[in-house]
Amino acid sequence: MATEALTSTDQIILRDPNAYQGHVHEFQDLTNINESARRFYMESYGCQMNFADSEIVASVLSDAGFVPTRDMEDADLILINTCSIREKAEETVRKRLREFNKVKKYKPGTLIGVLGCMAERLKEKFLQEEKIVDIVVGPDAYRDLPMLVDTAELGEKGINVFLSREETYADISPLRLGSNGISAYISIMRGCDNMCSFCVVPFTRGRERSRDLYSILAEVKDLEQNNYKEITLLGQNVDSYKWVNPENKEIVNFANLLRFVAESAPHVRIRFSTSHPKDITNEVLETIASYDNICKYIHLPVQSGNSRILKMMNRTYDSVWYKERVDAIRRIIPDCAISSDIIVGFCSETEEEFQDTLDMIRYSNYTLCYMYNYSERPGTLAAKKYPDDIPNEVKQRRLAETIVVQRQSSYESNLLDIGKTFEVLIEGDSKKSNQQFAGRNSQNKVIVFRKSSDYKPGDFVMVQVTDVTSGTLLGKLVS
Ligand code: SAH
Ligand code: SF4
Ligand code: F3S
Repeated sequence: MATEALTSTDQIILRDPNAYQGHVHEFQDLTNINESARRFYMESYGCQMNFADSEIVASVLSDAGFVPTRDMEDADLILINTCSIREKAEETVRKRLREFNKVKKYKPGTLIGVLGCMAERLKEKFLQEEKIVDIVVGPDAYRDLPMLVDTAELGEKGINVFLSREETYADISPLRLGSNGISAYISIMRGCDNMCSFCVVPFTRGRERSRDLYSILAEVKDLEQNNYKEITLLGQNVDSYKWVNPENKEIVNFANLLRFVAESAPHVRIRFSTSHPKDITNEVLETIASYDNICKYIHLPVQSGNSRILKMMNRTYDSVWYKERVDAIRRIIPDCAISSDIIVGFCSETEEEFQDTLDMIRYSNYTLCYMYNYSERPGTLAAKKYPDDIPNEVKQRRLAETIVVQRQSSYESNLLDIGKTFEVLIEGDSKKSNQQFAGRNSQNKVIVFRKSSDYKPGDFVMVQVTDVTSGTLLGKLVS
């Protein structure tokens, strides 16, 4: 198998906050607005936080007089927002840079800028390794971008990879140029303090910091007024959100934040991602249960079902703890869907230990999983301490087995939905037919159903499930 796998082929991947895949993110073309302005073209890879950051970058550039273009050959500035999570993610970026180089060959004045996690990981080394790159900017330095472009225009390299303890871009209103006008993301925190041994994020995104509650609520209100119907609160570990009100020193935790957001926009669906199993409290679960507009869906990455491996991964919970959290979700929010991320072939993982991961999928009855082969990342704890000793063929075989078990789990979960009626937010045409709409229910399952001219994308409708596959529910509109 050539690719890192996603189970649900019918997922509307681009708007899925947990789809850690590369996507070309093309902003709407606004070049007709100002003919003489400098133009930027941008692509984004990696997680949804990177996509959210690209909207910040677009806003910063727009304030500095740049306009976005969808045509890279027309651009004065080509930007790529990069991901370092696995080796393959970085290979994709290098491949794109070779494409950009072709443009630069016949338009030598074009500037090439690398943003995001790979820029942060490689720093100056990027400029040495990839000669075509003019600008390197880490995730906390986007305010500096216009100045760095000016530097590069003078023929020097522009670099800022300073990681901040405070920056949350709270005052920058994202330019939602690539949005469908229905779903939007709000970053509520940045960075990560967890130091999972396999993970590069703490090095590329720096220390964890939470954003000012009031700036989040203002963004929620703004989106609601602009007719958005779904908001996803984003962070690497949203359950550890903690903001101290400077005026009265009161602490706002994630459960409090969810409550504030849900109450401030009662007709907007609220989602959030990602939850860390060690931090998801009953208080959070009870808050989800008590608001209709908070979606009954939790992405709770387990990574492995084996306690020895979890310890080596430095996840700080074991399989017993994780199962207890699953039980708590089932008890407090009976109709909640749970999804996960899984890494197979982590250092020294035996066949028996791998089987524990398959058992965990069955136990948790995941509706969706993102499954990956372990990829050693330079500088991480695991890279320093443990040899990456599981052969590639073994990783591939384990991944294939995981996919089979996961498909079965999703299918079984979907079968239970036949006959049920769900409220569905229409997102657009289904991938297969323009005679059908696709949308999601609160559980984040994709439902496909025959179109009716009474409804349009962005409407909430009631749909009864008539049939299912492992990735999709099929249904019919009911009044
Ligand atoms: N903050 C989230 C995950 C962020 S990274 C959490 O803690 O759950 C997204 C996913 O990429 C992880 O959940 C993990 O499954 C996967 N991942 C991270 N580092 C990886 C590596 N070195 N090799 C393979 N998969 C990795
Ligand atoms: Fe990486 Fe762990 Fe932080 Fe997630 S919680 S971003 S896996 S270090
Ligand atoms: Fe996201 Fe990739 Fe960075 S997953 S945080 S863009 S390393």
